[in-house]
Amino acid sequence: MDAIGTVRVPDHPTVQAALSLARRAPSVHNTQPWRWVFDGHRLQLYRDSSRRLASADPQSRQLTISCGAMLDHVRTAFAAAGWDTEVTRLPDTSPDHLAGIDFAPAHAVSDSMRERAAAIDRRYTDRLPMLPPRDWERVAPALTTTATAHDIVLEVLADSARLRLAAASAQSAALREYDPQYLNELHWWAGNDSPADGVPLSALVSEAELAQVGVGRAFPAAPPSLRRGELTDASRLLVLGSAADSPLDWLRTGETLSAVLLACTAAGLATCPLTHITEVPVSRRTITNLLTVPALPQVVIRVGTAPTSSAQPPTPRRPVGDFLDLHRER
Ligand SMILES: Cc1cc2nc3c(=O)[nH]c(=O)nc-3n(C[C@H](O)[C@H](O)[C@H](O)COP(=O)(O)O)c2cc1C
Repeated sequence: MDAIGTVRVPDHPTVQAALSLARRAPSVHNTQPWRWVFDGHRLQLYRDSSRRLASADPQSRQLTISCGAMLDHVRTAFAAAGWDTEVTRLPDTSPDHLAGIDFAPAHAVSDSMRERAAAIDRRYTDRLPMLPPRDWERVAPALTTTATAHDIVLEVLADSARLRLAAASAQSAALREYDPQYLNELHWWAGNDSPADGVPLSALVSEAELAQVGVGRAFPAAPPSLRRGELTDASRLLVLGSAADSPLDWLRTGETLSAVLLACTAAGLATCPLTHITEVPVSRRTITNLLTVPALPQVVIRVGTAPTSSAQPPTPRRPVGDFLDLHRER
């Protein structure tokens, strides 16, 4: 509120710029299943169910996690532009309406917030084998603190869990090897180089590289290559889990996922979210049994160090105008 009693809010170019940066948020199969409406005062987030993965994600769990990741990216982009945000999650009874955001001018922008926002453009999903995460003892406690603040459990799996997780990963692939719906959906979204969404071939790995990682999703394979030589994956495996399986848990998981990925990127680490193991009940149970605290596994994240600056072209995104409605100021 200023001296003459008007509430200050971001103008349209500021909203467009923040969403343009935040659309780099990760989403399952790069579906970008969100819709935003700015009415001149508040910014509203809706899920776009036309982008749901009917086979892999019948409950819209991963769709909602993806929207949560975008929500945290949006808040980060606004924070770096000098705006505090207050979020109301699931503000009404509409299942599509996921959040409303109110704004207030920030007193200051911290260096760590600037670093987080700068990490948005650098972050990408790295599906290749990784070295162990550098400086992990310093980074890991901050990630746990971030998750706790969102009411989400973050557990770093013991190295001994890797083989069991790899077995669960293989099991989830084997159970769907002859599932035409799952396979059609996967091939629709991945490996096609669509200009605005989906996972391009350049972001995918060859069969040999997938074998080096052991826990990756079996996407359509890229042509034969061994971009990181004979390296066997030594990433740390993190699990994000929630108390229940409700839309609020999923939204908060997505916000946590975003915060964890950006913190890792800011620390110079490579990341890869994984959910195929959570899509099949029996393999999801394997993850549950690997946890030392009771929680429902939502996302596994590989965190490591990329051995070289193996730059890959950025994955595509939809134009902001495709998912943002700007209403006239009232
Ligand atoms: C909820 C969710 C689930 C995901 N599941 C997987 C997965 O199982 N395997 C994988 O390699 N990437 C997974 N991803 C990463 C997306 O494919 C990736 O974010 C998207 O293709 C955009 O690419 P970028 O992260 O490089 O910007 C997931 C991301 C999210 C948010």
